Amino acid sequence: MVITKEDRMGCSVHLAEDEKSVIILDQTQLPNRQVYLKLETAEEIYDAIKVLAVRGAPAIGICAGYGMYVLSLKKEPENYDIFKKAMHDEGEYLISSRPTAVNLSWAVNRMLGVVDANADKPVPEIVGLLHDESIAIQNEDIEMCARISEYGLSLVKDGDGILTHCNAGPLATSKYGTAIGPMLLGKERGINFRVFADETRPLLQGARLTSYELEKAGVDVTLICDNMASLVMKNGWVQACFVGCDRIAANGDFANKIGTSGVAILAKHYGIPFYTLGPTSTIDMNCPTGDDIRIEQRNPDEIKEMWYKEPMALSSVKCYNPAFDVTDHELLTAIITDQGIIYPPFDVNLRKLFEK
Ligand code: MRU
Repeated sequence: MVITKEDRMGCSVHLAEDEKSVIILDQTQLPNRQVYLKLETAEEIYDAIKVLAVRGAPAIGICAGYGMYVLSLKKEPENYDIFKKAMHDEGEYLISSRPTAVNLSWAVNRMLGVVDANADKPVPEIVGLLHDESIAIQNEDIEMCARISEYGLSLVKDGDGILTHCNAGPLATSKYGTAIGPMLLGKERGINFRVFADETRPLLQGARLTSYELEKAGVDVTLICDNMASLVMKNGWVQACFVGCDRIAANGDFANKIGTSGVAILAKHYGIPFYTLGPTSTIDMNCPTGDDIRIEQRNPDEIKEMWYKEPMALSSVKCYNPAFDVTDHELLTAIITDQGIIYPPFDVNLRKLFEK
């Protein structure tokens, strides 16, 4: 697959034309405003990830990759040890912005691997290698999403109803996306699905982003509140559930946006196949089970007041606001990756995938 600069520039995260900053489409402003942000400092990159201006596991990884390159441009070029220490410090800082999606640390560590492996080279040369590595991260994501979309498409047929949760489309990745990829690829090929998008409380990624992306692409999408999924399934309108993932453990348990495990439990009840779709960069073989995945806790105001003219609960009321939950691998029909469709037993088959 040939990926051009134009392909990359068309993505929600990319390197600026002058290659000195990271450009992101500010996802907090969608669907009402298309605003692009220019990120130049470690603080700006950290904040953009933290507030979800850039979000979705692969997009966060791409942003971190480019971020590390952009930050390397500002470092002292004379001394390798000082350069290396500064890059590691900033990498650690970026990783601390959000803990659950493995793609963030995966991308930062991949960039640091380039720094560590080239101690014998002058710093400007290492900076050049970091540039190439950050581009490679995005190119690979574009390729992986295309392959995931093909595999996902092979599991559904024209006219099927598909339910999705959160947003795992191009905004969260690169072209096509993961969970939404088969729907977009299908549309291009004249295969039509009827998609149900959970609004995805509390930050409404389903309403603000998924229904926006699908509607713009001409896909038949119906927005539902999260608590309507059961009825929609009972009505017989859903033939498959496609969701993204933020970290897949070695036994197939996976973290995704809060509410995903509830969808999986409902799907099991109604006998509907339930799939997670993600690039191999989201599989963390160092994480044995879902119990080992750190779940991000977020500000209670996101539940109580963020979307309302006035607070919807007393300020003294306690809130529990985890950003993700873990879906047990036993609820999962298959994991759709860029390397193929992985069926149970997941521990055995994921290990085989990485041994390859
Ligand atoms: O908190 P978010 O919006 O970053 O959560 C995103 C998700 O849970 C996505 O489903 C996941 O990152 C996969 S994106 C291809």
